[in-house]
Amino acid sequence: MTSTPIRSENAPFSDALTLLTTPIKNRRRSGGSGSEEESEYQCPWGRNGSPCPVCDRRRRGKLTNGVDSHSANGDLLSPGGDCHLDGTTNGVNDLNVNSVISYVGGMLVKEICCIGAGYVGGPTCAIIAYKCPHLRVTVVDLSEERIAQWNSDDLPIYEPYLDEIVRACRGRNLFFSTDIAGAVQRAQLIFISVNTPTKTYGVGKGRAADLRYIEAAARMIGSIANGPKIVVEKSTVPVKAAASIAQILKSSETADVRFQVLSNPEFLAEGTAVEDLLTPDRVLIGGEQSPEGLKAAAELASIYQHWVPAERILTTNTWSSELSKLTANAFLAQRISSINAISAICEMTGADIREVAHAIGTDSRIGPKFLQASVGFGGSCFQKDVLNLVYLCECLNLPQCADYWNQVILMNDWQRRRFVDNIIETMFDTVADKHLAVFGFSFKKNTGDTRESSTIYISKHLMDEGARLHIYDPKVPKKQMISDLKHPSISEDSSRVDRLVTVCDDAYSAAKGAHAIVVCTEWDEFKELDYQRLYNNMAKPAFVFDGRIMLDHEKLMKIGFYVHALGVKFMRTPSVRACGDAS
Ligand SMILES: NC(=O)c1ccc[n+]([C@@H]2O[C@H](COP(=O)([O-])OP(=O)(O)OC[C@H]3O[C@@H](n4cnc5c(N)ncnc54)[C@H](O)[C@@H]3O)[C@@H](O)[C@H]2O)c1
Repeated sequence: MTSTPIRSENAPFSDALTLLTTPIKNRRRSGGSGSEEESEYQCPWGRNGSPCPVCDRRRRGKLTNGVDSHSANGDLLSPGGDCHLDGTTNGVNDLNVNSVISYVGGMLVKEICCIGAGYVGGPTCAIIAYKCPHLRVTVVDLSEERIAQWNSDDLPIYEPYLDEIVRACRGRNLFFSTDIAGAVQRAQLIFISVNTPTKTYGVGKGRAADLRYIEAAARMIGSIANGPKIVVEKSTVPVKAAASIAQILKSSETADVRFQVLSNPEFLAEGTAVEDLLTPDRVLIGGEQSPEGLKAAAELASIYQHWVPAERILTTNTWSSELSKLTANAFLAQRISSINAISAICEMTGADIREVAHAIGTDSRIGPKFLQASVGFGGSCFQKDVLNLVYLCECLNLPQCADYWNQVILMNDWQRRRFVDNIIETMFDTVADKHLAVFGFSFKKNTGDTRESSTIYISKHLMDEGARLHIYDPKVPKKQMISDLKHPSISEDSSRVDRLVTVCDDAYSAAKGAHAIVVCTEWDEFKELDYQRLYNNMAKPAFVFDGRIMLDHEKLMKIGFYVHALGVKFMRTPSVRACGDAS
């Protein structure tokens, strides 16, 4: 099956937010044939003017297939009937009524459980609950602290618009709980969304995925299941992991307790998780190629079809689905390493990485995305998944493939190191005891996630040289930064962090008295700072090292900064203005 291109470059996420916040009656249908004012009317499940007892609200205009109530003859079908196709402007309301009813072995899917309340489980289930008010969705986790945060006003993860969605559904059809057994037993469909980090021990250490959390979840489901379940592998796993899950579960099967295992990898990106989940490029569902497997895949697809157009829901065999997720992340990481490799050539030749990226990005075969040179990719997934692929290649006795993909990681490490080496060399070959204002600690903007953030490694290299770091990030708590920097792989002697690191409340206090500003994360607010004010309060000569190529370099140089940006050959000091001059 093939997918159609989805999100156009010109479809800003504000459209999605408008959908979330605009009263239904004021919305205009944007998909399908032309624009049409929509009328609000009472869900036929409601009685005597009161709202529908299931969706607890009114439905919007008629379905475009002409079916305007829960069934063609006006009978109530079931929860999940057409009235619950809410808030969709993407043509989903063309669905056949029957296609949105979910059964497992003849049993209606009324309840979903998600094991793992992390960056994937929390947002994914919030969107499912928001889009499927007829479903009860419970997200469970071993961590009491994490569940308490999900139940508080201060969610454990920051994602734009996530607060609004959780607030809309929590306590209605979205629940966060530590009662794992209860939620698993009640659910007909269970997502496994636990962490699959790189192994830090034993065989495959440093490359293979650690599958113990997945296995523990599967064993727990098998030991307490009380009826038929569809178990959905949402975590990113090596190819054939679903077979292990299925083997574990099938050993617990009885006449009444049957399992179907599906692969449904998540493609959301942190920082745009809500947008990605509301308007995914595609949803991928892999399943056993048997009647039962296909039926289970169709059940899961029917849930997504409440807001995802059917043509964007791809079904494959299980192994293709698992491998596609690893491959997608490997390709994305590879693009970043590729453009970073070119950035080094730019710095030595006078080519400008921004011009090169633009020039190649206009080639429709290449495309403009993921061509931003930077201090390297971070996040919990890219490195882990590429390493996972490398290990898979090694296990399959494909050393050339393993080496090929491993180079993506080596290039990423080198880019971080290269950035720091340039800082040291530029600052007269020493940063010992110099104060450096580090702007940004999260691995990318619009998230508070610091896992594998390049800033951690840049900070490590700078601390190794004795630099004093004044770090500011708008979303990362001090406790998280200190814990990351004190990790034994970063600081053998954790006391050096106490000596060398100060966490600041804002960019101005970070830069006060500093010898240099080091931009590590591309937070928008860093563009808006008053750089004259920053400059006035810094030690001179004052340097800026732009690891995200995001600042107005001309303006900074006019102020008096010595500016270095990745992939651009200039060190145009106030006295050296010739474009392309290196001094
Ligand atoms: N973070 C992303 O951007 C992203 C995107 C796509 C896919 N993924 C994949 O999704 C999976 C989850 O990633 P994440 O970032 O949400 O991880 P996470 O570490 O944020 O969350 C995982 C959660 O699972 C919980 N958990 C582990 N074992 C459990 C068990 N037996 N029972 C109950 N809870 C348990 C942990 O306590 C943790 O809260 C990983 O495989 C990851 O590779 C992540």
